[in-house]
Amino acid sequence: MKTIETDILKVLISEEELHARVLEIGARIAADYEDKDPLFVGVLRGSFIFFADLMRCCPIRSGLDFLAASSYHQGTSSSGVVKIDYDIKTDVAGRHIILVEDILDSGNTLYNLTGHLRDRGAESVKLCVLLDKPSRREKPIQPDYVGFEVPDEFVVGYGLDYADRYRNLPYVGVLKPEVHEK
Ligand code: XMP
Ligand code: MG
Repeated sequence: MKTIETDILKVLISEEELHARVLEIGARIAADYEDKDPLFVGVLRGSFIFFADLMRCCPIRSGLDFLAASSYHQGTSSSGVVKIDYDIKTDVAGRHIILVEDILDSGNTLYNLTGHLRDRGAESVKLCVLLDKPSRREKPIQPDYVGFEVPDEFVVGYGLDYADRYRNLPYVGVLKPEVHEK
């Protein structure tokens, strides 16, 4: 059987490492938000696996919702313009928001989404990202909770995609170069 694993050059973060780190982050958020009834907002689609695991590691009173955003790219660099394709349905006025994203790269997406949620009256907005690529940052933005810092390599798996594929890998890995070039 041909599986998607044959396209992977190397495993960057194993299933065990992911699980251990998500447990730690969940416990930290639980301690920080114990009495705050926060609203977890997942950024679709890349965050969906991290989001589902994180929620199960954070046993406090909380709500959840999702939004989807896309950024316009000119060539290989992000234009910084972010469009909300699907917005949350929950009223965020007065709520403490934890924005959950797969990866913080240029920072354009989360910078814009944070502003959007603040404009709608959120009491606070914190950022929880599985991966951080600080070397590529274009916006003055720092994550509040981070799983792992990664080098400037294109990574897939555990929700992250290449052309919408590989999201279902249980670990985070790097694709073989010939897969990009195909
Ligand atoms: P910005 O630049 O707005 O980008 O911080 C965040 C979005 O860019 C995507 N992205 C990646 N997706 N592997 C991926 O699968 C990567 O290495 C990668 N780097 C950036 C991702 O969709 C994220 O939401
Ligand atoms: Mg994404």
